[in-house]
Amino acid sequence: MKVFVIGGGGREHAIVEVLHRSAQVSEIFCAPGNAGIGDIATCVPIKDTETEKLLQFAQQQQVDLTVVGPEAALAAGVVDCFRAAGLAIFGHTQAATRIESSKEFAKELMQKYGIPTASYRSFDCYEDALAYVAERPFPAVLKYDGLAAGKGVVIAQDLEEATEALKEMLLDTTFGKGRVVVEDFLTGPEFSFMCFVDGRNVYPMPLAQDHKRAFDGDRGPNTGGMGAYTSLPFITPEDWQFAYEQIMCRVAVAMCDEGRPLSGVVYGGLMKTPDGIKVIEFNARFGDPETEVVLPLLQSDAYNIFSSIALGKKIDNPILWSQEITLGVVLATKGYPGSYEKGFPLENVEQAGTRLFHMGTARRDGRLVTNGGRVLMVVATADTHQAARDKAYAAAAQIDSDHLFYRKDIGHYII
Ligand code: AMP
Ligand code: GLY
Repeated sequence: MKVFVIGGGGREHAIVEVLHRSAQVSEIFCAPGNAGIGDIATCVPIKDTETEKLLQFAQQQQVDLTVVGPEAALAAGVVDCFRAAGLAIFGHTQAATRIESSKEFAKELMQKYGIPTASYRSFDCYEDALAYVAERPFPAVLKYDGLAAGKGVVIAQDLEEATEALKEMLLDTTFGKGRVVVEDFLTGPEFSFMCFVDGRNVYPMPLAQDHKRAFDGDRGPNTGGMGAYTSLPFITPEDWQFAYEQIMCRVAVAMCDEGRPLSGVVYGGLMKTPDGIKVIEFNARFGDPETEVVLPLLQSDAYNIFSSIALGKKIDNPILWSQEITLGVVLATKGYPGSYEKGFPLENVEQAGTRLFHMGTARRDGRLVTNGGRVLMVVATADTHQAARDKAYAAAAQIDSDHLFYRKDIGHYII
């Protein structure tokens, strides 16, 4: 089978890698891909939102299955476009992607279907929003209603910060004219629950925890994620059951009832609060960097899973996962998530005993160079978190990293 993967980060490298392991897959294309993906797939220089060009390419190559990584491609309607042309594609329609692309839609849905989440109100008027925030306790959680590349959430500690954020979200044109959701501030450990989903059928993947802040001790600005690990000791079997049934299965049913059936991956960004597990956000795709620690544990045939979901066929055999633990460390360009340069040479990247996922790399004149904020992720597998962490850091230390930095405390919450 010929497979086409859309995207070019660490998440897509992990997707390409599991597909590459499938005996059914003979050839993989990836648009736009990256240097690491290029070692096992043919990279195609098409952007993930160039829907028509992607379709043309898939038709020319007669690919059997397309798998979509990034939310931007889903929100641009790539799935609708491929399906209209009769091609098999793994990912949600534009209508279903709303669960991620609109915070307000997601909050309304959760309220209507009794899915636990922070209570909220939404505003399009700056004065009303400010008045509401001013009379409530701080910190205030302010969420821009739309895709904002991870920058749409502000936890304001006082009125001054809230005023500034609301101005930016409702008066300025930073994100475009929109709405803001103001919600209760919740506390507790966060974790990521990803499931394959096809209508009402929900197939869980191992849980993972992401590290969103740039620096050790969970300090510094929010990033796309600086590291992750699987196997979360603070989640009891009862917690898991609750999250699976009351959140992940329930959202699948809710989206069917709304006429927006899910088909692809649903990602629950969940928090274990003192009042139980609640939803912080839903995403309509694989998480990054969670995917790089979760998919290496997949023992079942990835092609079967992706193609069954794409075709709306029930998966009969249970999806099998290794019981081992994975832990991964992201190496990012100094300056990320602020401004940074690209094109720095990378040496000694492959280290024995670990997996390496490329997040933002390219080849220039045959040399491997940095090509993004998050550059590489080293993922180690072991029987314990400590052993996985030791292996991952031993490998990370070998990578020539004058222009890179990484957190030294991935897994600190439990180790
Ligand atoms: P989101 O983009 O919705 O995942 O929000 C980004 C981050 O902001 C989350 O990972 C949380 O750490 C934090 N956050 C979002 N909503 C809340 C909330 N209601 N209470 C506390 N923290 C929150
Ligand atoms: N790691 C968080 C996300 O993919 O949204």
